[in-house]
Amino acid sequence: MTEAWSKSAWRAKERIQMPDYPDTTALNAAEAQLANFPPLVFAGEARALKRQLGEAAQGRAFLLQGGDCAESFAEFSADAIRDTFKVMLQMAMVLTYGAKVPVIKVGRMAGQFAKPRSAPMESVGGVELPSYRGDIINGFDFTPEARLPDPSRMLQAYTQAAASLNLLRAFSKGGFADIHRVHAWTLGFTRGEDAERYKALGDRISDALDFMTAAGITSDTTAAMSTVDFYTSHEALLLEYEEALCRIDSTTGLPVAGSGHMIWIGDRTRQPDGAHVDFARGVQNPVGLKCGPSLSAEDLKVLMAKLNPENEPGRLTLIARFGAGKAGEHLPRLIKAVKDEGANVLWTCDPMHGNTIKSPSGYKTRPFDRVLQEVREFFAVHSAEGTIPGGVHFEMTGKDVTECTGGLRAVSDEDLSSRYHTACDPRLNASQSLELAFLVAEELSQRRKDLARKAV
Ligand code: PEP
Ligand code: CO
Repeated sequence: MTEAWSKSAWRAKERIQMPDYPDTTALNAAEAQLANFPPLVFAGEARALKRQLGEAAQGRAFLLQGGDCAESFAEFSADAIRDTFKVMLQMAMVLTYGAKVPVIKVGRMAGQFAKPRSAPMESVGGVELPSYRGDIINGFDFTPEARLPDPSRMLQAYTQAAASLNLLRAFSKGGFADIHRVHAWTLGFTRGEDAERYKALGDRISDALDFMTAAGITSDTTAAMSTVDFYTSHEALLLEYEEALCRIDSTTGLPVAGSGHMIWIGDRTRQPDGAHVDFARGVQNPVGLKCGPSLSAEDLKVLMAKLNPENEPGRLTLIARFGAGKAGEHLPRLIKAVKDEGANVLWTCDPMHGNTIKSPSGYKTRPFDRVLQEVREFFAVHSAEGTIPGGVHFEMTGKDVTECTGGLRAVSDEDLSSRYHTACDPRLNASQSLELAFLVAEELSQRRKDLARKAV
């Protein structure tokens, strides 16, 4: 028998990676205010995304999920949102061209504020303070005041998410994403081999569009050419915020997380009896589950039963994040668990979180080669298992940062200090993101050819 669910039932479960707010009056007030605000997304959109993810699980679409590790209050600007959106459009173009299937675009945006941490406390020069947990919880500055969890930050996060989503909707539907602008999404600072490759691809697309216009098929007649669907997602870590934005969908009568289209459960908070799994199991949104090396086949089976009891296509996305050199060891045993259960899941690859290292210069970084290697391993395992590699999940930005080392415009260890802006994990910059998209597109196109060969 499945336990009855309510949006606050998680409170009776073990709570980890969440702050203990010292001021409960302020906490209650912030929660009450959020509960009165409109939800950020409409349940019908979450259902549409779920349908599309179900297609990706069958190999008829491909998921591109990407954005900041942690959005920050200080780095909030129209330019930052626009530039990440542009890079995602470029990557989606490259992937569509390679895969010949629709690419589902989901930002780690408009709600990606709360961060799990490896240690609850941070020590600097003999001073110990609570760790920074993301701008929705406390401040990054290393002072006792900043590090105190402050519930009013949830309201600021909501406001920022609403404004971000508003702009993303405008970009998606207002003409910015029209496919005829395929060259206009290139960022000024992206030069070199990857930019050249994108330009060549853009030229081919422009040619095809000219042909279609001549044949009478134009953006005016085809909405799919002038607009895109763009969805939002974040880790549903801060459950007070999630609960306050949970709503009953008037169409289905079912609960829906109003904080974003898709939510996911992190690798540190996926305990089958924990608070985070309990919250996610009751909302009808698509749910992601981070799968790291410590996930056992038994736990995965329990989690699939809890999170997707109806075995609904598109409901559950398994986000593999093992680290380069480890996918061969872990992915097959989890794929077997999925096969044993006959479970419908979408497999995607996060090649970021298993590949974080401390560089000799002291920065937290990710070597680009290792990121590429994990993507290749992900595709190789799925090819060997006869299963479907349905998407990718990246930490990336449209800004010209130097946070991950390597790539065609080689960022060296010494370069890291020049433009290292992340408040949390190191992100791929625009060039590195595009380069990665070309690699994934090659893998997808190879897969398509292999399948066609097998079919004859
Ligand atoms: C993240 O996606 O930012 C994250 C913390 O990932 P994981 O839970 O996989 O470590
Ligand atoms: Co991260």
